[in-house]
Amino acid sequence: MRESSHLLNKALEYTKFSYAPYSKFKVACILIASNGNEDKEFYGVNVENSSYGLTICAERVAIFKAISEEYKILKALYLVAVDSEGFEVLDIMPCGACRQVMIEFSDNLSIITRKSEYKIKELIPFSFRLKNHI
Ligand code: THU
Repeated sequence: MRESSHLLNKALEYTKFSYAPYSKFKVACILIASNGNEDKEFYGVNVENSSYGLTICAERVAIFKAISEEYKILKALYLVAVDSEGFEVLDIMPCGACRQVMIEFSDNLSIITRKSEYKIKELIPFSFRLKNHI
């Protein structure tokens, strides 16, 4: 738990890199991923766009950074957010789209927030999978 709050605090500092001029809702995360030999921390923040639908969540930024460096074993994701008034949002949870991206790579990824800890398979039961059909 001490390690969790350390990583959540580190992620909280990273919200300053969030690009959220429209929602002003700043999200940041630290993903711990492995390439089979070593674990590495990948940071992510939400990056919004004036064409709103092009916005990407912090979680997907971190996951795509990890996958693109061959760190494909997703172990733990520490997630924080700050609202438009600068207050930390304690009950942040990953959106449905991010859950689908997470389950693509791991059943065992832990999602850790200030308030809770879940395995991704608990957060997206009966998820869509193509793997078994091709
Ligand atoms: N957002 C995330 O980055 N992660 C989530 O899990 C939920 C939402 C972002 C997207 C958008 O920039 C802002 O939060 C408000 O929806």
